[in-house]
Amino acid sequence: MKPNDLSEIVGNDKSHIWHHLSQHKTLQTTDPMVIVEGQGMRVKDINGREYLDAVSGGVWTVNVGYGRESIANAVRDQLVKMCYFANSAGNIPGAQFADKLIEKMPGLNRVYYSNSGSEANEKGFKLVRQLATLKNNGKKHKILFRDRDYHGTTITTLSAGGQEQRKDQYGPFTPGFVEVPHCLAYRAPNGDDPDYGVQAAKEIEKIILREDPDTVGSLCLEPITAGGGVIVPPEGYFETVQEICKKYGVLLHIDEVVCGMGRTGKWFGYQHFDIEPDIVTMAKGVASGYAAISVTATTENLFNEFLAEPADKMHYFRDISTFGGCAGGPAAALENMRIIEEENILDNVNKMGDYLMDRLHELKDKHDIIGDVRGKGLFVGAELVKDRKTREPVDESVAAGVAADCLKQGVMIGRTNRSLTKYNNTLCLSPALICTKDDLDEIVNSIDVALGNQEL
Ligand SMILES: Cc1ncc(COP(=O)(O)O)c(C=O)c1O
Repeated sequence: MKPNDLSEIVGNDKSHIWHHLSQHKTLQTTDPMVIVEGQGMRVKDINGREYLDAVSGGVWTVNVGYGRESIANAVRDQLVKMCYFANSAGNIPGAQFADKLIEKMPGLNRVYYSNSGSEANEKGFKLVRQLATLKNNGKKHKILFRDRDYHGTTITTLSAGGQEQRKDQYGPFTPGFVEVPHCLAYRAPNGDDPDYGVQAAKEIEKIILREDPDTVGSLCLEPITAGGGVIVPPEGYFETVQEICKKYGVLLHIDEVVCGMGRTGKWFGYQHFDIEPDIVTMAKGVASGYAAISVTATTENLFNEFLAEPADKMHYFRDISTFGGCAGGPAAALENMRIIEEENILDNVNKMGDYLMDRLHELKDKHDIIGDVRGKGLFVGAELVKDRKTREPVDESVAAGVAADCLKQGVMIGRTNRSLTKYNNTLCLSPALICTKDDLDEIVNSIDVALGNQEL
């Protein structure tokens, strides 16, 4: 591309693009970042500047790294042969990917395709609402969600959102969504209680009893909370949650939009815990961003609830997602999964995840501003505090300052961003699952320098 073309691109962007999560007043005096190329762990912007991407495309997505020709070829070949047909009919990669996916998730058996994480979760909510009508006179319609979790950007998925700043100004919300408390041990209400995991789960039981168990249809949780501060549930939490759900007939909906497809060192985040979800949703890493695809997976039991005599004209899941029929999505997802298996990527996630955690603990020893380091696999957060004893969070501007400093050094890191009123204070790392020790050293060293600059 000639330099002239590039300036035109920036001009066109500035004139016409409404960027996500952006205050455009700022872009009146600066240029937007325009990313033009990517290879492996690195991307290049329109000015030719290279960055090491520690957040897999900004939002935990490009899990197998940039520039994978085999995925691009799989998508191309599929599109030339058969690009699209509504998913009331089948297509070849859709059927093949469903079979491969179900192999990785014992206990689940049905795959419903759509094209964003929000939409996949919305399908999960619709299943619960319809089931309540079909089986329980509409009574078991309430959906529980957890403080700090995020399930999407539509009004209904925001209604299930535990991040108040994401919701602010977008109400009124869909009725029938009820919040339960978070399970972040570092911010436990009664200090460092070793039994906190079980206690936090029992808070959910209290809410089910308060609402009346006959009205509660499902509980929707992230296996490890992502944008709410990288929260790994404490010991005993999920196992107790599972018992509670079984006891009160509440379906367990696990949102794997971030954790799914290997991010945490297992195929799915929930597989670190002894639980059997009824609904599992996934999106970002399913095709590593090479095509838009999301999945709502369910058990065969749940699916069977929607079987009826055809004469009963309303007793089936009456949902459609136009782009759930794009055959390029499952074609990309199949090749993405083949890469993860053949390159033994889960093993790399576990090894590199341990290394990253060790390096961040070293940083914590060096910088008092790091109050807590937590995560699983290549999904890690460092919470910044003003004071280690009181655990008072730093202002959002501090985490933003650290991320900006890293960017100046050529490393893109993430941070909790305009999500929680008081706690936008966690740095987030989610490098591609192919990263090496050298990549991780470069990332951690840049944070080390940035934190040093903050402390000056
Ligand atoms: C846990 C979780 N669920 C759902 C979503 C929504 O996904 P999408 O932006 O594809 O709609 C996100 C997006 O960040 C997410 O982090």
